[in-house]
Amino acid sequence: MNWGMKNRLSRIIQPDTGRCLMLAVDHGYFQGPTTGLRNLGATVNPLLPYADALMITRGALKGWIPPETGKPIILRVSGGPTVLKELSNELVTTTIEDAIRINASAITCSVYIGAEFEKETIANLAQLVNDGEKYGIPVLSVTAVGRDMARDARFLGLASRVCVEIGAHIIKTYYCEGFEQVVEACGNVPVVIAGGKKLPEKEALEMAAGALSCGAVGVDMGRNIFQSDKPVAMIKAVRALIHEKKSVDEAYEMYLNG
Ligand code: R5P
Repeated sequence: MNWGMKNRLSRIIQPDTGRCLMLAVDHGYFQGPTTGLRNLGATVNPLLPYADALMITRGALKGWIPPETGKPIILRVSGGPTVLKELSNELVTTTIEDAIRINASAITCSVYIGAEFEKETIANLAQLVNDGEKYGIPVLSVTAVGRDMARDARFLGLASRVCVEIGAHIIKTYYCEGFEQVVEACGNVPVVIAGGKKLPEKEALEMAAGALSCGAVGVDMGRNIFQSDKPVAMIKAVRALIHEKKSVDEAYEMYLNG
């Protein structure tokens, strides 16, 4: 791995703990004005001090996030279909040149294993890895889960391993029973979990703790933070779990008192 790639990765996965808290706010690229992100800046800017990195599209970044932010950007560079269409029919929407201009610390796309446009989304990932390797920009690959897909270790392990084989530098997937098998399938490539739909805060903390105990390096969490009644208290609690190795009960207490 070249120096630039290592340097960018170390801005995201914190060298002192080996872990990371990514804040995902890229939902608008297929969902439109998602609850909590209608005024994206009002929700996200107060959360930024507690995040290690921000996952976002270039449009949302330019519209709502000040360029003075010191936070590493994980730039969502895929898109196309909305929730009204076949989601797997994605294309790469943002050039590597624009990612470089933005000073992205990583670029990201979704890979839809088992879906109608599986091959095209693998091709998107391959293009990103080829561009990323050329310019020292790591690629985070999201294992997208279609409507009728089982979120189990067999499927998520398969989907994650395919992304590893194509060359992804970080895997983002979903927590499931037997999650250690998914982590194992990724070898030395770091794994983070998405939060998924909004859960009660304690359950979201339990899910994150479960993933960490199975070997995940952290989370790339969105709705379970920004749709919380107390988003700042919630991100602080998730941070304590990830970086300070607090227990779920301790982190939940922090949320309640935050
Ligand atoms: C989905 O593909 C998007 O990349 C979201 O960023 C991702 O699902 C994480 O957000 P959440 O924790 O809300 O699931």
